[in-house]
Amino acid sequence: MTNPLDYHDPEIRKEVLERQRRGLWTPEQTRSLAKHFGLEPGMHLLDAGCGYGYSLRAFGPWCMPGGTLFGCDRDDALLRTARTLAAEEGLGATARFITGDITCLPFDSNRMDLTIAQIVLCHLAEPEKALDEMIRVTRPGGCVVVMDNARSLGPGGGWSSLREPSIPQLLFNFEAMLRHRRGRKRLGLGDFTVGCKMPGWMEKRGLKNVSVRGNEKVSWIAPPYASPDQQLELQKLKERLAVPTAHRSHLARQYDPIYRAGGADRAMIRRLRRSGRRNRRRVEEALEKGTLAYAAGTPLWCVWGFK
Ligand SMILES: C[S@@+](CC[C@H](N)C(=O)[O-])C[C@H]1O[C@@H](n2cnc3c(N)ncnc32)[C@H](O)[C@@H]1O
Repeated sequence: MTNPLDYHDPEIRKEVLERQRRGLWTPEQTRSLAKHFGLEPGMHLLDAGCGYGYSLRAFGPWCMPGGTLFGCDRDDALLRTARTLAAEEGLGATARFITGDITCLPFDSNRMDLTIAQIVLCHLAEPEKALDEMIRVTRPGGCVVVMDNARSLGPGGGWSSLREPSIPQLLFNFEAMLRHRRGRKRLGLGDFTVGCKMPGWMEKRGLKNVSVRGNEKVSWIAPPYASPDQQLELQKLKERLAVPTAHRSHLARQYDPIYRAGGADRAMIRRLRRSGRRNRRRVEEALEKGTLAYAAGTPLWCVWGFK
């Protein structure tokens, strides 16, 4: 089965590769991570599984002047946009985008000073193979970075002002999440706990000074939604709600085979859909009344080590 996150779908591309990216790491964290990675002018950086080249654009400026930035992805259409975005940020002359598979990178060994992959390994059937490749193309002393989902067994932290779910509803949500996770693994679509396993995988491969940071960004809104951050969050929410129902159902259906592979029966899938629709209505009503409040973070870890 191919991954249901189809980045050719304009809505998904906009939501995942643009909007979500803007809120993942704060500028302060990016600055501090660049220091930890030992980035300096003149370095060669590879953003592996680059998508729109978020990491290349976030960390590329620390390699300037004199650096070379490589973005590699298996999807040519994404690379075309990545090229445009890099040029818009003044990195066009130094950025090269190359089609390739992260489990068999089209680069010589020991070529890069920094090799980074963000939210790529969690989508792979063989994430350790990708890590081996990232280490291979990094020079001795260079830095290998994986930023990825680190979802523990339980649902992520967060809170909303909507009606508090009952314990049976919470248990149902928990089971559905575990079925989804198991289904992904069974279908070879990856593992959202990969970030938690990464420090051990890096140490096992002899990387030195392996370190981990969690992303500190928490999105929240509360009436009267006064700050610019909250206004932006509200706008993102309204845009998500504006996706036409037919399109949303089409996307939701793409997840059915995953739930089924994880052992969910038809009743569970139907109930999931119902509770999704109910939840959406509650969000819309609360938005209209101006009472909606929530706080939620993404459990994403940055794990790095030196070859
Ligand atoms: C969630 S996106 C992350 C993109 C980017 N790293 C970011 O943080 O915005 C996952 C990316 O991995 C790419 N990808 C998935 N499997 C890959 C593989 N085997 N080799 C290269 N790229 C891959 C996808 O095309 C997509 O661009």
